[in-house]
Amino acid sequence: MKHNAYRSIIIILLCQLLSVAALFDAKHNTTTTREPPKQLESSVGRIVGGFEAHIHQIPYQVSIQQEGVHRCGGAIYSATIIVSAAHCFELWDMPELFAVRAGSSEHERGGVYLPVRRIFVHAQFQPANGVGDDIAVVAVTYPLPFSINIQPIPLASSADMSDAYRSVYFVSGWGSLAEGSRLRSPRLRFVTVKQFEQRACKAAYSRTVHITEGMLCAGALGGGRDSCQGDSGGPLVGYAHGRFVLVGVVSFGIGCGRPGLPGIYTRVAEYKDWIELAAKQI
Ligand code: ARG
Repeated sequence: MKHNAYRSIIIILLCQLLSVAALFDAKHNTTTTREPPKQLESSVGRIVGGFEAHIHQIPYQVSIQQEGVHRCGGAIYSATIIVSAAHCFELWDMPELFAVRAGSSEHERGGVYLPVRRIFVHAQFQPANGVGDDIAVVAVTYPLPFSINIQPIPLASSADMSDAYRSVYFVSGWGSLAEGSRLRSPRLRFVTVKQFEQRACKAAYSRTVHITEGMLCAGALGGGRDSCQGDSGGPLVGYAHGRFVLVGVVSFGIGCGRPGLPGIYTRVAEYKDWIELAAKQI
């Protein structure tokens, strides 16, 4: 029963994903959109070209809180392990400052709130050397009670990456709605983005960031669809081999939703072994 409900949600989500992807592909999407054009215009520079989501649609999403305040997103890997971004944990050696909220569409209330037991940050992560290896795993003190609102998501493998449907992904979080804004969205949101060719991404960021094989770029050619501050650590998800998989972790970007500057994500398939090992050792 629960399984069936989850499946139908997955199908609904997939339909949304495909219809948004179609919108995305349309040359004159202002004429085919279901939303008034005004809304499309105002979505430029925002995290979300825009949909609010309920946690049961994105049950693997968590809010990672530092001293009781939303700091980053994360993705549920198993009942006790969350995958997130290294740069969220400057204070990785003080896990007692952190907690995870799961199973709620709001980062401030609801769901379950579990203290963090331990944080593993990738040993090669060096904020001073750019944004490479921006990956971390977090162990919570008690197992998450899986439900319709709390579910794990599998890590993408390299085989998944070649199947990932038309390389259309979606990213979710409580991050800012506008570049430069310090406000966070009280409710969970998601947006669909398209993968950029590695070459195009390298070119886009040639002056600022060294794009490595461990990174993946996704956004919209014309801008307007992106993750933003506060979404870091959160899940970029694709559909491959009949199921949703974790393709990326929100890492970095110049501004949010700027044309020609996609979001930079940690490429999960490249870190699958590291994540699996860390999850065993933590
Ligand atoms: N580093 C940001 C954070 O800490 C995430 C930035 C993502 N930016 C983007 N344009 N996709 O929340």
